[in-house]
Amino acid sequence: MALGRKIRYGMVGGGPGAFIGAVHRKAAALDGEIELVAGCFSSSPEKSQAQGRELLLDPSRVYNSYQEMAEKESKLPPGERIDFVAIVTPNNTHFEIAKTFIEAGFHVVCDKPMTTTIEEAEELVRLVQKHDVVFALTHNYTGYPMVKQARELVRSGHLGEIRKIVVEYPQGWLAKLVEGESKQASWRTDPKQAGVSSCIGDIGSHAENLAHYITGLEMAEICADLTTFVSGRQLDDDGNILVRYENGARGILYASQISVGEENNLRIRVYGTEASLEWHQEYPTDLWVRYNDQPARLYRMGNPYNSDIAKHFTRLPAGHPEAFIEAFANIYRSAARTMAAKIAGTEPHPFDTDFPTVIDGARGVHFIHKAVESARSNAKWLDVRYTPPA
Ligand SMILES: NC(=O)c1ccc[n+]([C@@H]2O[C@H](COP(=O)([O-])OP(=O)(O)OC[C@H]3O[C@@H](n4cnc5c(N)ncnc54)[C@H](O)[C@@H]3O)[C@@H](O)[C@H]2O)c1
Repeated sequence: MALGRKIRYGMVGGGPGAFIGAVHRKAAALDGEIELVAGCFSSSPEKSQAQGRELLLDPSRVYNSYQEMAEKESKLPPGERIDFVAIVTPNNTHFEIAKTFIEAGFHVVCDKPMTTTIEEAEELVRLVQKHDVVFALTHNYTGYPMVKQARELVRSGHLGEIRKIVVEYPQGWLAKLVEGESKQASWRTDPKQAGVSSCIGDIGSHAENLAHYITGLEMAEICADLTTFVSGRQLDDDGNILVRYENGARGILYASQISVGEENNLRIRVYGTEASLEWHQEYPTDLWVRYNDQPARLYRMGNPYNSDIAKHFTRLPAGHPEAFIEAFANIYRSAARTMAAKIAGTEPHPFDTDFPTVIDGARGVHFIHKAVESARSNAKWLDVRYTPPA
């Protein structure tokens, strides 16, 4: 580490019973380079304090509101105060929390979707530029070594010119109205907390980001058919989107929360003029590459034939699977090393700058809104090109 000490962070969200906050904490701790020192874990002060006790944090660093945390942490000496905030709250709160900490000079790790409106996303891009902070967005599927290997194969021209991308993220957990029983289901299907979409916002955005990350292609136009199958639900729970990419490639993006029997079956297939590839997040150690004129190849995680960047993000020898938490850890380690280099006034290793940023977040929010707009106009084709603010 460029700094000769651990990078310190505080968490907002991730209180008792929460899902992703605990994953973030495990991932951040994995490589021993990052330390949790503060938090506001819930909007309920009692729950925030209870979570702080469970994590054995110094009680003076467990706060009753994120505003109090930003204010009091700013007053601590550098090296003692947090270096960054991790935001793991429901979608509608990301913007105000991120803005508060960026304006106080802190770096940010934020979960997706980045914000619930396009205006807020654009404002965050501007704030990150203005305050020159590191902003990492946990589109965690980009952290898998075999996803990086897939991107290297596309970049090297091994697939030829990309013609077709099929990316799907089916889940089945919202096939019935479970909003009353599950806290996670209840906010994800509430427009006030989730934003304009449930299915596309929650998991279609991962599919959009994964396709962009592996192929480097920008979407030009989309045509979206979104449905709410479950009676009494307020937002979409299934979506089928046709995509025209800027290079002329065509795509199909399917995300669903009502595909009974599916768990987290994120899968991508990319077809080029010379070869195609396929990666499944439920079998993350395997990357298939197929040809018309020779047998298929199976690239496996942890082998020396993989690219240097895939190896940089692999911790174990082949045959010992690494998956969800390690992929999050790859984003955390890269973001923390980039922060450490910035604080020390040095340059990070180029591999350590390979994590999703505020621009990816804004592109995702733009995509979600365009998908909803297209669906509301009876699946009209819409221009979806995203240009970051200058
Ligand atoms: N990258 C991924 O794979 C992934 C997976 C799951 C969730 N997520 C994202 O993570 C976020 C959280 O999702 P979740 O499933 O963990 O939700 P959750 O409901 O399980 O947890 C949210 C937590 O935030 C806390 N919270 C809410 N408002 C707060 C505030 N003002 N101050 C402090 N704490 C507050 C709640 O008390 C709760 O502890 C969402 O944006 C979601 O889209 C990402």
